[in-house]
Amino acid sequence: MPAKTTTIPIRNRRQAHEQTDDLYDRLARKVIGQPAAIDAIVPYVQIYQAGLAPEGRPAGVFLLLGPTGTGKTRTVEALAEVLHGSPKSILKVDCGEFQLEHEVARLIGAPPGYLGHRETQPLLTQMKLNAVASEHSNLSIVLFDEIEKAAPSMQRLLLGVLDKGTLRLGDNTGVNFERSVIFMTSNLGARGMLRELAPAFGFESGAPRETGSRGRKLSGIALDAVRRKFSPEFVNRIDAVVTYQPLGRGELAAILDQHIEELQRHILSRLGPQGFELRVEGECRRELLRLGTSLESGARELKRTIHRRLLQPLAVMVSRGDIEPSSRVTVSYDEAQGDLHFSTGNAATAAA
Ligand SMILES: Nc1ncnc2c1ncn2[C@@H]1O[C@H](COP(=O)(O)OP(=O)(O)OP(=O)(O)O)[C@@H](O)[C@H]1O
Ligand SMILES: [Mg+2]
Repeated sequence: MPAKTTTIPIRNRRQAHEQTDDLYDRLARKVIGQPAAIDAIVPYVQIYQAGLAPEGRPAGVFLLLGPTGTGKTRTVEALAEVLHGSPKSILKVDCGEFQLEHEVARLIGAPPGYLGHRETQPLLTQMKLNAVASEHSNLSIVLFDEIEKAAPSMQRLLLGVLDKGTLRLGDNTGVNFERSVIFMTSNLGARGMLRELAPAFGFESGAPRETGSRGRKLSGIALDAVRRKFSPEFVNRIDAVVTYQPLGRGELAAILDQHIEELQRHILSRLGPQGFELRVEGECRRELLRLGTSLESGARELKRTIHRRLLQPLAVMVSRGDIEPSSRVTVSYDEAQGDLHFSTGNAATAAA
């Protein structure tokens, strides 16, 4: 008997491809230089969107590892932006707030009749989970940030969620996690990764890219730390463990470009007709990278550096009336002064 085949019309197949490529591209534009993370996450979202996610468990469970400021939390926010239109559409559990056993109990609430039942509103309810979905997608994003900081009972609580897709609350109602992706982030092994990297070069504004065997070695260091901390059953229930690599100079420069574009949009949207064009010259960008990035903190300090070195002086100029509406402000680096220099079409003002 000939095998029965179903042909999917080309148009639909192309649409499906476009949707996936779109998800991949949109995430890659927001999360710079971490393709392994996007490669790991996108297929699970795609399987969910196709209606093919397995029943009785979350649609995807990811552990994101690696040094500070390399984009772990940013990845989760970027997925929320792409799926729901806002980086805030995340049910986030800061595990640092659950370091003691009785604090973990707050996540699920006390049983009725127990002391504190009324005061302990569970943090992980079905309503809160549903509230982070949107009209664009019914997939809720859950983030357990800095998972290694939580008391051991958090691991037991999570085991049930990862295994069965449900969580039983203190009042015996259940929370269903089948329509959710769960992310856990951790710095476990990050110190070991940096120790491995640090002696190799003098770090200025970005490490050379870790590729091939060096990258695998760094991932191995992170995974060993995870296996020492978490039980094998727990690790086995994770769909993908992704190790974020330290960012290279090129990636950090691209992140700075993103921040400057964001600052430009902010100026135009907040000041309206009083807005102005911001031009940040190459040597100024290099100085901002030197000030705002390091092997230890990745891109974490860049935003603060831009706030202090660009936004604050610009605000002073705006309030003094130094900037004509629709003019251009050019920021350069004054080598002799060792400081940033701001000039406009109508005035030149040195950075405060
Ligand atoms: N790969 C990246 N792509 C784009 N932006 C990034 C990236 N890495 C870091 N950033 C920028 O740096 C900030 C801090 O990054 P993020 O919060 O993702 O760090 P993290 O890896 O979660 O670090 P931690 O372990 O300290 O929580 C982000 O808000 C973002 O602006
Ligand atoms: Mg983080």
